[in-house]
Amino acid sequence: MNIKILALTGTRRKGGNSDILTDKALEGAEGAIVEKIYLKDLHIKPCKGCLRCNLLGYCSIKDDDFNYFRDKFLESNSIIISAPVYYHYIPGELKVLMDRFRSTFHVAMTPEKLIYTSRYDIETKKFLFILTLGHPKEHDAIPAIEALNIFASMTCKNPVIIKPVIATFLAMPGQIKACKEKLRHMFTKINISPDLVDEKYEEYQEFLKDAYNGGKMVSRES
Ligand SMILES: Cc1cc2nc3c(=O)[nH]c(=O)nc-3n(C[C@H](O)[C@H](O)[C@H](O)COP(=O)(O)O)c2cc1C
Repeated sequence: MNIKILALTGTRRKGGNSDILTDKALEGAEGAIVEKIYLKDLHIKPCKGCLRCNLLGYCSIKDDDFNYFRDKFLESNSIIISAPVYYHYIPGELKVLMDRFRSTFHVAMTPEKLIYTSRYDIETKKFLFILTLGHPKEHDAIPAIEALNIFASMTCKNPVIIKPVIATFLAMPGQIKACKEKLRHMFTKINISPDLVDEKYEEYQEFLKDAYNGGKMVSRES
Protein backbone atom coordinates (compact mmCIF):
# COMPACT_ATOMS: atom_id res chain seq x y z
CA MET A 1 0.00 0.00 0.00
CA ASN A 2 1.23 3.48 -0.81
CA ILE A 3 1.13 5.68 2.27
CA LYS A 4 -0.48 9.07 1.68
CA ILE A 5 1.04 11.96 3.58
CA LEU A 6 -0.55 15.36 3.90
CA ALA A 7 1.85 18.09 5.02
CA LEU A 8 0.30 21.31 6.25
CA THR A 9 2.70 24.20 6.59
CA GLY A 10 1.31 26.68 9.07
CA THR A 11 3.93 29.37 8.58
CA ARG A 12 3.25 32.79 7.09
CA ARG A 13 6.72 32.73 5.54
CA LYS A 14 7.18 30.44 2.57
CA GLY A 15 10.85 29.47 2.75
CA GLY A 16 10.80 30.09 6.51
CA ASN A 17 12.34 27.64 8.95
CA SER A 18 9.23 25.53 9.52
CA ASP A 19 8.76 25.33 5.75
CA ILE A 20 12.35 24.10 5.29
CA LEU A 21 11.87 21.45 7.98
CA THR A 22 8.65 20.32 6.30
CA ASP A 23 10.54 19.80 3.05
CA LYS A 24 13.19 17.84 4.95
CA ALA A 25 10.51 15.59 6.47
CA LEU A 26 9.02 15.02 3.02
CA GLU A 27 12.47 14.17 1.71
CA GLY A 28 12.60 11.43 4.36
CA ALA A 29 9.19 10.16 3.30
CA GLU A 30 10.57 8.35 0.30
CA GLY A 31 8.08 6.14 -1.53
CA ALA A 32 5.01 7.83 -0.02
CA ILE A 33 2.48 9.88 -1.95
CA VAL A 34 2.95 13.34 -0.53
CA GLU A 35 1.01 16.56 -0.76
CA LYS A 36 2.08 19.81 0.81
CA ILE A 37 -0.39 22.58 1.51
CA TYR A 38 0.40 26.05 2.79
CA LEU A 39 -2.24 27.15 5.24
CA LYS A 40 -1.72 30.72 4.06
CA ASP A 41 -2.96 29.68 0.60
CA LEU A 42 -6.26 28.41 2.01
CA HIS A 43 -9.27 30.53 2.74
CA ILE A 44 -10.58 29.26 6.07
CA LYS A 45 -13.24 31.24 7.89
CA PRO A 46 -13.36 31.12 11.70
CA CYS A 47 -15.90 28.83 13.37
CA LYS A 48 -19.02 30.88 14.22
CA GLY A 49 -19.52 28.97 17.46
CA CYS A 50 -23.12 28.18 16.46
CA LEU A 51 -22.66 24.46 17.30
CA ARG A 52 -25.23 23.60 14.64
CA CYS A 53 -22.73 21.01 13.40
CA ASN A 54 -23.55 18.93 16.46
CA LEU A 55 -27.10 18.47 15.14
CA LEU A 56 -26.55 18.79 11.40
CA GLY A 57 -23.43 16.64 11.11
CA TYR A 58 -21.68 19.21 8.96
CA CYS A 59 -20.37 22.74 9.22
CA SER A 60 -22.82 25.41 8.16
CA ILE A 61 -20.02 27.52 6.65
CA LYS A 62 -19.76 26.40 3.06
CA ASP A 63 -18.04 29.14 1.08
CA ASP A 64 -14.44 28.49 2.00
CA ASP A 65 -11.73 25.81 1.72
CA PHE A 66 -12.49 23.86 4.90
CA ASN A 67 -14.25 20.92 3.23
CA TYR A 68 -11.45 20.70 0.66
CA PHE A 69 -8.86 20.48 3.42
CA ARG A 70 -10.93 18.14 5.59
CA ASP A 71 -11.27 15.66 2.72
CA LYS A 72 -7.51 15.74 2.12
CA PHE A 73 -7.02 15.15 5.85
CA LEU A 74 -9.47 12.24 5.93
CA GLU A 75 -7.95 10.44 2.97
CA SER A 76 -4.35 10.68 4.26
CA ASN A 77 -2.64 7.99 6.34
CA SER A 78 -0.21 10.42 7.89
CA ILE A 79 -0.32 14.09 8.72
CA ILE A 80 2.61 16.45 9.10
CA ILE A 81 1.85 19.83 10.63
CA SER A 82 4.57 22.44 10.89
CA ALA A 83 4.31 25.90 12.38
CA PRO A 84 6.26 28.62 14.12
CA VAL A 85 5.56 29.10 17.81
CA TYR A 86 3.69 32.35 18.41
CA TYR A 87 3.24 33.39 22.04
CA HIS A 88 4.14 29.83 23.12
CA TYR A 89 1.24 28.61 21.01
CA ILE A 90 0.31 27.78 17.44
CA PRO A 91 -0.33 30.64 14.96
CA GLY A 92 -3.91 31.95 14.98
CA GLU A 93 -4.82 30.67 11.54
CA LEU A 94 -3.89 27.11 12.54
CA LYS A 95 -6.16 27.38 15.57
CA VAL A 96 -8.92 28.68 13.30
CA LEU A 97 -8.53 25.59 11.11
CA MET A 98 -8.49 23.27 14.12
CA ASP A 99 -11.69 24.84 15.49
CA ARG A 100 -13.45 24.02 12.24
CA PHE A 101 -12.71 20.33 12.80
CA ARG A 102 -15.29 20.54 15.60
CA SER A 103 -17.81 19.78 12.87
CA THR A 104 -16.18 16.38 12.26
CA PHE A 105 -17.32 14.93 15.57
CA HIS A 106 -20.42 14.80 17.71
CA VAL A 107 -20.19 15.85 21.33
CA ALA A 108 -22.66 14.54 23.92
CA MET A 109 -22.81 16.39 27.24
CA THR A 110 -23.26 14.19 30.30
CA PRO A 111 -23.04 15.25 33.98
CA GLU A 112 -19.67 13.50 34.24
CA LYS A 113 -17.96 14.29 30.99
CA LEU A 114 -18.17 15.15 27.31
CA ILE A 115 -18.39 12.16 24.99
CA TYR A 116 -16.76 12.70 21.61
CA THR A 117 -17.76 10.57 18.62
CA SER A 118 -16.08 11.12 15.31
CA ARG A 119 -18.40 11.30 12.31
CA TYR A 120 -15.70 9.55 10.34
CA ASP A 121 -14.46 6.16 11.30
CA ILE A 122 -10.78 7.05 11.51
CA GLU A 123 -9.06 4.24 13.39
CA THR A 124 -5.52 5.52 13.15
CA LYS A 125 -3.23 8.04 11.53
CA LYS A 126 0.34 8.99 12.15
CA PHE A 127 1.09 12.56 13.12
CA LEU A 128 4.36 14.43 12.99
CA PHE A 129 4.47 17.91 14.45
CA ILE A 130 7.27 20.31 13.62
CA LEU A 131 7.63 23.54 15.56
CA THR A 132 10.18 26.30 15.22
CA LEU A 133 10.82 29.00 17.78
CA GLY A 134 13.16 31.79 18.77
CA HIS A 135 13.70 30.60 22.33
CA PRO A 136 16.91 28.63 22.90
CA LYS A 137 15.02 25.95 24.87
CA GLU A 138 12.17 23.69 23.84
CA HIS A 139 9.87 24.48 26.75
CA ASP A 140 8.37 27.58 25.08
CA ALA A 141 6.71 25.19 22.62
CA ILE A 142 4.88 23.06 25.23
CA PRO A 143 1.44 24.73 24.91
CA ALA A 144 1.68 24.47 21.11
CA ILE A 145 2.57 20.77 21.29
CA GLU A 146 -0.29 20.16 23.71
CA ALA A 147 -2.76 21.84 21.33
CA LEU A 148 -1.55 19.70 18.43
CA ASN A 149 -1.70 16.50 20.50
CA ILE A 150 -5.29 17.30 21.45
CA PHE A 151 -6.11 17.88 17.80
CA ALA A 152 -4.65 14.46 16.90
CA SER A 153 -6.56 12.67 19.62
CA MET A 154 -9.87 14.35 18.76
CA THR A 155 -9.72 13.67 15.05
CA CYS A 156 -8.58 10.06 15.23
CA LYS A 157 -9.37 7.11 17.57
CA ASN A 158 -5.83 5.82 18.06
CA PRO A 159 -3.40 8.40 16.75
CA VAL A 160 0.26 7.51 16.54
CA ILE A 161 2.06 10.68 17.50
CA ILE A 162 5.72 10.67 16.49
CA LYS A 163 8.18 12.51 18.76
CA PRO A 164 7.82 16.15 17.65
CA VAL A 165 10.61 18.12 16.04
CA ILE A 166 11.14 21.27 18.08
CA ALA A 167 13.72 23.50 16.46
CA THR A 168 14.97 26.30 18.71
CA PHE A 169 16.90 29.58 18.34
CA LEU A 170 15.51 30.57 14.96
CA ALA A 171 14.42 33.93 13.63
CA MET A 172 15.51 34.63 10.07
CA PRO A 173 14.12 32.78 7.05
CA GLY A 174 16.60 30.16 5.85
CA GLN A 175 18.55 30.25 9.11
CA ILE A 176 18.17 26.55 9.79
CA LYS A 177 19.90 25.50 6.58
CA ALA A 178 22.43 28.32 6.32
CA CYS A 179 26.12 27.48 6.01
CA LYS A 180 28.39 28.73 8.78
CA GLU A 181 29.48 31.79 6.85
CA LYS A 182 25.92 32.81 6.12
CA LEU A 183 24.96 32.09 9.71
CA ARG A 184 27.74 34.38 10.95
CA HIS A 185 26.35 37.12 8.74
CA MET A 186 22.79 36.51 9.97
CA PHE A 187 23.81 36.44 13.63
CA THR A 188 25.72 39.71 13.28
CA LYS A 189 22.70 41.32 11.63
CA ILE A 190 20.39 40.40 14.51
CA ASN A 191 22.91 41.03 17.31
CA ILE A 192 23.67 37.46 18.24
CA SER A 193 27.28 36.71 19.16
CA PRO A 194 29.06 35.07 16.21
CA ASP A 195 30.81 32.88 18.81
CA LEU A 196 27.61 30.82 18.84
CA VAL A 197 27.78 29.93 15.15
CA ASP A 198 29.54 26.57 15.48
CA GLU A 199 27.29 25.34 18.28
CA LYS A 200 24.06 26.48 16.62
CA TYR A 201 25.07 25.18 13.21
CA GLU A 202 25.45 21.70 14.74
CA GLU A 203 22.08 22.00 16.49
CA TYR A 204 20.35 23.05 13.27
CA GLN A 205 21.86 20.06 11.47
CA GLU A 206 20.36 17.82 14.18
CA PHE A 207 16.90 19.41 13.73
CA LEU A 208 17.09 18.81 9.97
CA LYS A 209 18.05 15.20 10.67
CA ASP A 210 15.18 14.83 13.17
CA ALA A 211 12.73 16.15 10.56
CA TYR A 212 14.08 13.75 7.94
CA ASN A 213 13.73 10.82 10.34
CA GLY A 214 10.26 11.97 11.39
CA GLY A 215 9.25 11.98 7.72
CA LYS A 216 10.63 8.48 7.37
CA MET A 217 8.57 7.31 10.33
CA VAL A 218 5.27 8.69 9.06
CA SER A 219 5.87 7.12 5.67
CA ARG A 220 6.08 3.59 7.10
CA GLU A 221 3.08 1.29 7.13
CA SER A 222 3.54 0.21 10.74
C1 LIG B 1 4.02 37.00 16.47
C2 LIG B 1 5.22 36.18 16.85
C3 LIG B 1 5.21 35.55 18.09
C4 LIG B 1 6.30 34.76 18.47
N1 LIG B 1 6.26 34.13 19.69
C5 LIG B 1 7.32 33.35 20.06
C6 LIG B 1 7.30 32.67 21.32
O1 LIG B 1 6.35 32.74 22.11
N2 LIG B 1 8.38 31.93 21.67
C7 LIG B 1 9.47 31.81 20.84
O2 LIG B 1 10.42 31.12 21.20
N3 LIG B 1 9.49 32.41 19.61
C8 LIG B 1 8.45 33.18 19.21
N4 LIG B 1 8.47 33.79 17.96
C9 LIG B 1 9.59 33.51 17.02
C10 LIG B 1 9.23 32.46 15.95
O3 LIG B 1 8.60 31.33 16.54
C11 LIG B 1 10.49 31.95 15.23
O4 LIG B 1 11.22 32.98 14.67
C12 LIG B 1 10.18 30.89 14.14
O5 LIG B 1 11.34 30.18 13.81
C13 LIG B 1 9.64 31.48 12.85
O6 LIG B 1 9.29 30.42 12.00
P1 LIG B 1 9.29 30.60 10.41
O7 LIG B 1 10.73 30.85 10.00
O8 LIG B 1 8.77 29.32 9.88
O9 LIG B 1 8.42 31.78 10.08
C14 LIG B 1 7.40 34.59 17.57
C15 LIG B 1 7.37 35.23 16.32
C16 LIG B 1 6.30 36.01 15.97
C17 LIG B 1 6.29 36.65 14.59
